[in-house]
Amino acid sequence: MKMNKHYNELKASYLFVDIAHKVAAYQEAHPEKEIIRLGIGDVTQPLAKCVVKAMHDAADEMGTKEGFHGYGPEQGYPFLKQAIQGYYASRGTKLAEDEIFISDGAKSDLANVLGLFDVDNTVLVPDPVYPTYVDDNVTDGRKIIYSRTGQENGFLGMPDNSVKADIIYICSPNNPTGAAYTRDQLKQWVEYARKNDAIILYDAAYECFISDENLARSIFEIEGARECAIEICSFSKIAGFTGTRCGYTVVPKELEREGMNINKLWLRRQTTKFNGVPYVVQRAAAAVFTESGMAEIQANLDYYRKNAKVIADALDECGVWYCGGKNSPYIWLRCPGNMKSWEFFDWLLENCGVVGTPGVGFGECGEGYFRLTAFGDAEKTKVAAERIKAAIKAL
Ligand code: MLT
Repeated sequence: MKMNKHYNELKASYLFVDIAHKVAAYQEAHPEKEIIRLGIGDVTQPLAKCVVKAMHDAADEMGTKEGFHGYGPEQGYPFLKQAIQGYYASRGTKLAEDEIFISDGAKSDLANVLGLFDVDNTVLVPDPVYPTYVDDNVTDGRKIIYSRTGQENGFLGMPDNSVKADIIYICSPNNPTGAAYTRDQLKQWVEYARKNDAIILYDAAYECFISDENLARSIFEIEGARECAIEICSFSKIAGFTGTRCGYTVVPKELEREGMNINKLWLRRQTTKFNGVPYVVQRAAAAVFTESGMAEIQANLDYYRKNAKVIADALDECGVWYCGGKNSPYIWLRCPGNMKSWEFFDWLLENCGVVGTPGVGFGECGEGYFRLTAFGDAEKTKVAAERIKAAIKAL
């Protein structure tokens, strides 16, 4: 029996698990303190009413002989794929129905898609980065190179022609920094990928927060991307499905490497290893794209956008550098007083009762930075912002 020794190369535990343990220990020691959680990017607004109704109706259907659904199509029901197709088409991006694969969330697909690629490929990830990208490749034993980012490039790495990568991760708007690429910048990544015969894994989980016209909502807005990119997206952030689990992956039919068609391979992979997302969840997800669904969802997104502004305004008042918060639910700030990330985490918890995420948890380049999320409750976010302002001013 041989174990996958690469698991030994992982950090002892996942970043958000570490934070949860630390906060639980602090709360136990200080039961009187009201802690405000702006750490993990989990939503707090309830599901939209039309989403809940669609879920109820589908559950009722499942209890009838005529409406019962057993195994569904592994790649998702046509009604949901068509709804997603319409969502992209409304932004001018054409997709074929069989280029869309429904999944139980972006996190799973980001890991699963790697199964199509040899472990002997080199992976390029930005630093700082959503830790899952790194861990997925560490456990597979792939070589990882980092595209270092910082304040000087607005935490948006650009291609370096002296570096050869086969798999490139792009998350825009980015987790954790909230920075988002313009179409012109993404064009350079598409050119680089095509020149290197590489594939871009484009994480679009936060696209719904984009309001700036110059920023791309999908990699497929960029000419040539259909020959070099896979897009992975989620219902978690747009519609609060973090506890309901649903996402989708777009694999264009043109995408081929070494004579293998990646769309066909992904279908083969999914039909073998996945039995699809529950019917009730897919019905609920489809309701997101109805007229009333989109209106309700926009109201929720605006709620989070306001939270982001409350946090950003507080930081502006204290002269703290940050990026994100405008086309993103994440605010990425420079720790005041030259504190290191974990030092600021402890300071913030102790002085403000606020939980955030230490930047260094997302990579070396995140040292000295810190992430706050706008996904919290509005009233609590206001209280947190006031506390942060007062504490930083008193530093
Ligand atoms: C985060 O806080 O970074 C999120 O939880 C990421 C995710 O959606 O898994």
